[in-house]
Amino acid sequence: MLVSAEKMLRDAKAGKYAVGQFNINNLEWTKAVLLTAEALRSPVILGVSEGAGKYMCGFKTVADMTKAMMEYLGVTVPVALHLDHGTYDGAYAAMDAGFSSVMFDGSHYAIDENIEKTRQIIADAHARGISVEAEVGAIGGEEDGVIGGGEVADPDECKRIADLGVDMLAAGIGNIHGKYPENWAGLRFDVLDAIQQKTGEMPLVLHGGTGIPADMIRQAISLGVSKINVNTECQLSFAAATREYVEAGRDLQGKGFDPRKLLAPGVEAIKATVKEKMELFGSVNRA
Ligand code: 13P
Repeated sequence: MLVSAEKMLRDAKAGKYAVGQFNINNLEWTKAVLLTAEALRSPVILGVSEGAGKYMCGFKTVADMTKAMMEYLGVTVPVALHLDHGTYDGAYAAMDAGFSSVMFDGSHYAIDENIEKTRQIIADAHARGISVEAEVGAIGGEEDGVIGGGEVADPDECKRIADLGVDMLAAGIGNIHGKYPENWAGLRFDVLDAIQQKTGEMPLVLHGGTGIPADMIRQAISLGVSKINVNTECQLSFAAATREYVEAGRDLQGKGFDPRKLLAPGVEAIKATVKEKMELFGSVNRA
C-alpha cells in the first residue's frame, strides 16, 4: 500500500535524518529502489516527473505498476509515490491516478498566485489523505528542459507557504538539478537556517541531491532538511555500468543481449547508489 509522505517526513525531522526521494522512469529502476529500501528497512519516496509519467504511459500506469510490484516483491516498508515538480493540472491528474503525494511547483508564479494555487491543492489533497510539497524559489539547473539559475528562496515567502499547512517545503538554497559546476558556491546554510527558524516543524526538502558533498548533506539535515531528492546520480551510475557491460563485449557472449542480462549491471549500480544515499541520509532501519 502506498502511504502519504507526511508522517514519514515528520518522523524524519524529529529523528534528524532524511528520507530519500529517488526518481523512477522505468520498471527496472522502480524495482531496484523498492528492493533496496526493503533490504535496508528504509522508508522511501518514489519521484515521478510529469515527463516520466508520460514516458511510462501515464500516471495511472505508474501507480498501478508500483502497487502491483510492491505486492509481488513483498515490500512492507513505507513507500510514497510522489509527483515531482508538478503543474497545477498535473497535481490533480496524479491524485486521480492514485499517487499518495504530490508536489505543486508554483515557484514560477508570482508569490500570491503560488499561494492561492497551493492553498487549493492542499485542501483537495488533504481531503484524500495525500501529502503536498510546495516550492518557493526555483531550483537551479535543468529539469525537463527548464533551466533555473541557482535561486535562493525568501524566508518570509517560505513562511507564508508553510502557514497554508503544506506537508513539506522545497526552498531554493543555491542547489542545482543535475551535475554541479566546478565553481559552485555551495549551499546557503545561512538561508536554510533562517527558513527553518521561520517555518518551525515544517519538513524541508533539498532538491538536486546529486553530487552534494556528504558534509553538506549532514549539515542540511541538522538544519531541518528531511527529504532529499536524487535523480541524476542514479542515471549516471546506470549509464556507466551499462557502458562497461557493452564495452566489455558481454552482450556478444551467449545470450548477453537479453535485456534482462543487459540491464542487470545498471540495476545493480542503481541499488548501490540508493544504498549509499540511504546510509548517508540516515534512513536505514527507520521503517
Ligand atoms: P538531481 O537530478 O540533481 O539529483 O535532482 C533531483 C531532483 O531534485 C528531482 O526533483
